[in-house]
Amino acid sequence: MIKLENLSKTYAKSGTKAVDGLSLEIRDGEIFGFLGPNGAGKTTTIKMLTGVLKPDEGRIEIGGVDMGSDPLAAKSGFGLVGDNPELFNKLRAREYLNFVADVYLVPDGLRRERVSSLASRFKIEDVLSSSIGSFSRGMKQKLCVVASLLHDPAAWILDEPMVGLDPQAAFDLKELMRERAASGKLVLFSTHVMEVAERICDRIAIINKGRILFIGTIPELRAREGEIGDSLESLFLELVEDSDEAALR
Ligand SMILES: Nc1ncnc2c1ncn2[C@@H]1O[C@H](COP(=O)(O)OP(=O)(O)O)[C@@H](O)[C@H]1O
Ligand SMILES: [Mg+2]
Repeated sequence: MIKLENLSKTYAKSGTKAVDGLSLEIRDGEIFGFLGPNGAGKTTTIKMLTGVLKPDEGRIEIGGVDMGSDPLAAKSGFGLVGDNPELFNKLRAREYLNFVADVYLVPDGLRRERVSSLASRFKIEDVLSSSIGSFSRGMKQKLCVVASLLHDPAAWILDEPMVGLDPQAAFDLKELMRERAASGKLVLFSTHVMEVAERICDRIAIINKGRILFIGTIPELRAREGEIGDSLESLFLELVEDSDEAALR
């Protein structure tokens, strides 16, 4: 379970209030989609939630642990795939995976098992001895996905994970999200691609200008906002447009 309470963040340099009083609860066993246009505040929220950025205000709880008071325990409870797969280019893929497994104290036997099953699943087993600098963006992204699951976390958090993946890898990733949710684990991912959200999310939140416009299931969104036959995309655009207009008034 992840709980966000009244999170806010303003970037000092630009003075932009990127996240504005955001509260959210994500349950174990669900795939939760965090949706919003570019600049909505998705990455900033994920960075606060994962302890990369400190919120100006608000509280974060992951698996019952408060991020502010016990960051190490909170951080061990999730795996993160960030929005930028830039890694240590000089390391070989296997060295990087071992480094991550060391950080998360994953025992040898389990580590070998997980590296081998995840790497073969994402078809990077043949390049584990190559240096990361030689990888395409998609391969780096797959390596990040594998690394994020080495400690088999209760929560899996992914920021725009489909970007740069080929169709097969995107399909494999969605399958794995479903499997993890079905086994009672939490999956939270951000996207600006409605199609992906529509296909796999149990619930979604729509965010614009740092504020939540909607939380619920897609059928609930349809019932509230739309007419039968409306696509998620058109509902989404309408909500975002309305909130932009309201902000101008
Ligand atoms: N490092 C930063 N410094 C200043 N402003 C930033 C920084 N990162 C993001 N922003 C601004 O904060 C807002 C939210 O950005 P972001 O969280 O990256 O949105 P999203 O991930 O939804 O596209 C945007 O207006 C963006 O320009
Ligand atoms: Mg982003």
